[in-house]
Amino acid sequence: MIPQDFIHQLLDRVDVVEVIDHYVPLKKKGANYQACCPFHGEKTPSFTVSPTKQFYHCFGCGAHGTAISFLIEHAGMGFVEAVKELANRVGMVVPDDGQVVHPENDSRDRLYELMEAAARFYKDQLKGSDKAVNYLKGRGLEGKTAARFGLGYAPDEWQGLEKAVADYQSQDLETAGMVIANEGKRYDRFRDRVMFPIRNERGKVIAFGGRVLGQGEPKYLNSPETPLFHKGRELYGLFENRRGIQVAGRAVVVEGYMDVVMLGQYGVENALATLGTAVTPEHVTKIFKLVDDVVFAFDGDAAGRKAAWRALENSLPQIPDGKRATFLFLPEGEDPDSYVQSAGREAFEQMCDRAKPLSDFLFDELSAKTDTTSEEGKVRLFTLVEPYLKQMAKAPLLARSLRQRLAALSGVATTERRGQPVVRKPAGGINRPASPTAHRIVLQALLHRPERLKILPELPDSESPVFRQLEAVLAVMREHPELADVRGLLEYFRGQPEEGLVQAAAAGLLEWSEDYESESDLRGAWATLMGQAAQQQMSGFKGKKLSDISPEERARYMTALKEKKLDQLSQVKSEE
Ligand code: UTP
Ligand code: MN
Repeated sequence: MIPQDFIHQLLDRVDVVEVIDHYVPLKKKGANYQACCPFHGEKTPSFTVSPTKQFYHCFGCGAHGTAISFLIEHAGMGFVEAVKELANRVGMVVPDDGQVVHPENDSRDRLYELMEAAARFYKDQLKGSDKAVNYLKGRGLEGKTAARFGLGYAPDEWQGLEKAVADYQSQDLETAGMVIANEGKRYDRFRDRVMFPIRNERGKVIAFGGRVLGQGEPKYLNSPETPLFHKGRELYGLFENRRGIQVAGRAVVVEGYMDVVMLGQYGVENALATLGTAVTPEHVTKIFKLVDDVVFAFDGDAAGRKAAWRALENSLPQIPDGKRATFLFLPEGEDPDSYVQSAGREAFEQMCDRAKPLSDFLFDELSAKTDTTSEEGKVRLFTLVEPYLKQMAKAPLLARSLRQRLAALSGVATTERRGQPVVRKPAGGINRPASPTAHRIVLQALLHRPERLKILPELPDSESPVFRQLEAVLAVMREHPELADVRGLLEYFRGQPEEGLVQAAAAGLLEWSEDYESESDLRGAWATLMGQAAQQQMSGFKGKKLSDISPEERARYMTALKEKKLDQLSQVKSEE
C-alpha cells in the first residue's frame, strides 16, 4: 500500500530519460529524446521521451506513460515492484502506511503469480504423463515446440492445483478462473486436458486453453473472462511470435491454437490465433499497431467464408491507409496445422503471398450477389458496396480508389460526399492518437501553461463522452494542482477512459517548444468546442419538422446559444 504523495515525490526525483535509457538507448533530438520504439517494430524512431514533461510517447503505436508505467510495460514489473525499483535508485524508502493506492495493481500482481504457478505445474505434469505426451506426439508435435509454447497437462484430478498453490481456498484462484466454486464444492476448472498457456505481449500468462485428449466435449475449454483476460482482445501467439512477425513484416491470423503451434514447428513464426471468437475490431487495431501486412487465414468451407466476411466487416473501419489485409482460404478439409504438415512451410508461405486483397474479396463477394450485366444489377452493386466504403474512416485514400473502381463497375459515379473524412496532411509523419481535436488542444494548451486554468470558463453541458472526459481531467487539475501536469495526469488516469485524451494532448505537446505561445490555439479550440456543444444541443431538434418547432422557440434557442458562446469566448479573451 503506497501513499499517493509518495508516488509524486518519487516521480519528482526520478528522471524518465535515465530510466528508459537504461533499457533502450536514447538519442537527443531537439528538445526531446528518441529511439526506435521498444513496443512495436520500426526502422525510424518515433518513440519520444520528454525530459521537461517527464513522459514518453510513441507516435507509431501510441505507447505512452511515466517512468513507472515504462517499468511495468517494458520490463514486465508489477506496480509495487516498479515503485520499489525506482525508489531504490534515488535512495527513497517506500512507506507502508496502510493507504490504498492502485489496489487493482496489487491484486493483478497476485493473479499473474497464480497463473504463472499454474503454468509451471501443468508443464511439470506433462513430463510425467505418458498419455498426454503420446497424444501430442501422435499429432506430430515435437518436445522442442511444446516447450517453446509452454504446453502442459492438467491432471485428471478434481483438486490438482492444490499442489501448485499455497492456498487452494483463496478467492484469487476463483477470480483467475482456475477453480470453480459450486455449492460448497471447489474444484479445478481444467482436468485431464492438454494446456495451452495464453500469454500477453509481455509474456505473462493471463489465461489457458485446454484441449481434451482425443474425443470429448467441449473440445477446447478456455479461461473465462477475468481481470487479466478479455477474449475479444487477446491473440494467441503474440508473445511467442512477436519477433517472427517483425522479421517477416507480416502476421498470419489463424483460427486455432494448434495452427499457431504447428506452423511454429515448421518455421512459420508469424502466426496469431483468435481465441475461438471472430476477429474483433480490437484484434485488428492491435495487429496493425504491430505490422503493416496481415493475412487472415480461414478454412475453405462455408463456415470459413462466413468467418472471413465477419473479419472483413470488423477490419474495414480499422485499417489505415498504407496497411494491407488479405484473405486466404485453405483447401477444403484442411487447416493450417494439417496443411503445413503435409505441404510444408514454403507451400504455406506461397499461399499467403497469393492471398486475396481485402478490396478484391469485398468486390468479389458482393458482385456474386448481383447480375452485373443489367443496369438494375449494376445499381444494386453500387448500393451494396457503397455502405462498406463509407466505413473506411481510417483509409480515405483506399476508399477513394475503390469508389473509382465501383464507378467503373456499376456505371454509377459518386461525387465525394460531405462528411467523408478529409485526407489529413501528414503533420511531419506524425500519427497522433485519435482524439477530437478541439478537446485535445484545450487540454494541451492548459498543460502547456496550467495557470490558464484559472481563466477558463465552465464547460458547457454536454452528454458527449469526450466532454465528460475533458471535464473530469479539468476537475482533477483544479482540485489537485500537484497533479496538473502530463506526468501526474497520466499516472492518475492510467487505465481510465480519460487516459486517451491526456495521451493525445501530451503527444501534441511534444510538437510545441517550451516558449510556444498557444493563446490563439486555446481560444480557437474553445470556440470550436462551444460550437460543438451548441450543435449537439441543436440536434435535439433534428428529426422534427421545422413546422413542429415554434418560431419563437427556435429564435430563443439560437439567441441563447449565440450569447452563451460569445460570452464564454470574451471571458477567455479579456482575461488573457
Ligand atoms: P477448431 O474446432 O477448428 O479446432 O477450433 P482446431 O484448432 O483445429 O483444433 P484441433 O486441431 O482439433 O486440436 C478452432 C479454435 O476455436 C476454439 C479454439 O480456440 C480452437 O483452437 N474452440 C474450438 C474453442 O474455444 N472451443 C471449442 O470447443 C472448439
Ligand atoms: Mn486442427
